[in-house]
Amino acid sequence: MRTFFPVFVAALSTIAAPAANGASPSPTQLRRGEALLKRDCGACHAIGRTGASPVKDAPAFRTLGQRYPIESLEEALAEGFMSGHPDMPEFSFDAHDVGAIIAYLKSIQQR
Ligand code: HEC
Repeated sequence: MRTFFPVFVAALSTIAAPAANGASPSPTQLRRGEALLKRDCGACHAIGRTGASPVKDAPAFRTLGQRYPIESLEEALAEGFMSGHPDMPEFSFDAHDVGAIIAYLKSIQQR
């Protein structure tokens, strides 16, 4: 009996792993992320898959992933701190909203 146990666990984790890795954000989460960015950042940044930023120097959000991993913005969003960011409006997002914003940003990145 005991010898079968590890086999069973191994089988379970191969079934569970793809589901966990492939978990995609819900449409609601993506819409929330988009709405927050539109409200707080859209005056300067292009937040969609197309379009130019209203402020010339502000990078379009769909290009951020070309410079660094989107996850690296998590802390900045939560703490309201963005280095090298002039005229930065005050903002800080709770963990739920940061998750929504990160999920949205990932969904629009250009490859
Ligand atoms: C008042 C206009 C304005 C607003 C509002 C604004 N930004 Fe920016 N942002 C800029 C400008 C201009 C730059 C380019 C700064 C530079 O490259 O020196 C920039 C750059 C950035 C960068 C790139 C920084 C880097 O180091 O590469 C990120 C990320 C960013 N903004 C995120 C945001 C987020 C998230 C919001 C909303 C919560 C936001 N910005 C709101 C003007 C703005």
